[in-house]
Amino acid sequence: MDPVSTVSLAVAGLAFAYPDGHQALFGVDFTVARGERVALLGPNGAGKTTLVLHLNGILTGGTGTVTVAGLEVGKRHMAEIRRRVGIVFQDPDDQLFMPTVREDVAFGPAAAGLRGAGLEERVDRALGLVGMAEFKDRPPHHLSFGQRRRVAVATVLAMEPEILVLDEPSSNLDPASRRELADILRSLDVTVLMVTHDLPYALELCPRSLILSDGVIAADGGTADLLADEALMRAHRLELPYGFDPRSVPAPPGRS
Ligand SMILES: Nc1ncnc2c1ncn2[C@@H]1O[C@H](COP(=O)(O)OP(=O)(O)OP(=O)(O)O)[C@@H](O)[C@H]1O
Ligand SMILES: [Mg+2]
Repeated sequence: MDPVSTVSLAVAGLAFAYPDGHQALFGVDFTVARGERVALLGPNGAGKTTLVLHLNGILTGGTGTVTVAGLEVGKRHMAEIRRRVGIVFQDPDDQLFMPTVREDVAFGPAAAGLRGAGLEERVDRALGLVGMAEFKDRPPHHLSFGQRRRVAVATVLAMEPEILVLDEPSSNLDPASRRELADILRSLDVTVLMVTHDLPYALELCPRSLILSDGVIAADGGTADLLADEALMRAHRLELPYGFDPRSVPAPPGRS
């Protein structure tokens, strides 16, 4: 394979200021290889969500480039980019807007042209993966937060994306749901970029982590190494849970 086709995501010199003048990104550079699972760590306000919103062109207008599987994010390839980059937003209510779970999960594939039995199968598979099949006919706004998070993941899985980007996927999930989501993510044959404050989750799922701090990549390395670097962690307001020793945890297993 040539080097271009092995790179899923390339971000180069990405800088961005919001319309009110607040600059959130100051030149972000990194690449993610196809099939890699990478955690994006960093304190509140570091620019993580701002970066995520650039990966499929929801935010544009700054400088620098984002390239997905060789396609530059921009007006030209937008439909293809949106199909390839699946983003699970920080708040599931930003993602769910149809009267039923089924319609929300079917929305993307239907917009991409899938119809009939093929569409139903796609919806059932995605809901089955997140354990929400029996909620198919319920209105999303009647579900609990954790259930809405699972449906939001299903809406993205239904698109069979090449890159799955998750913004704080484990927040507000109970321990069993959190583990089940980890099992799902491990079983998928996709590139994953996962924003998280849940450092044990990053260690469990992602062999590599990036630390975004004040709008720049402050560190890029093995997750266990970064989490064990106390000075680095302190410098970027990252704290491990009480009693958690990153060196006592086995390396994350590869894709099953
Ligand atoms: N719409 C907006 N207009 C102006 N400034 C914004 C806007 N959205 C975010 N910001 C600012 O940009 C910076 C980065 O915000 P962002 O939401 O990307 O941080 P984050 O790393 O995702 O934080 P968190 O961990 O709290 O989710 C913050 O200082 C924030 O106040
Ligand atoms: Mg955020």
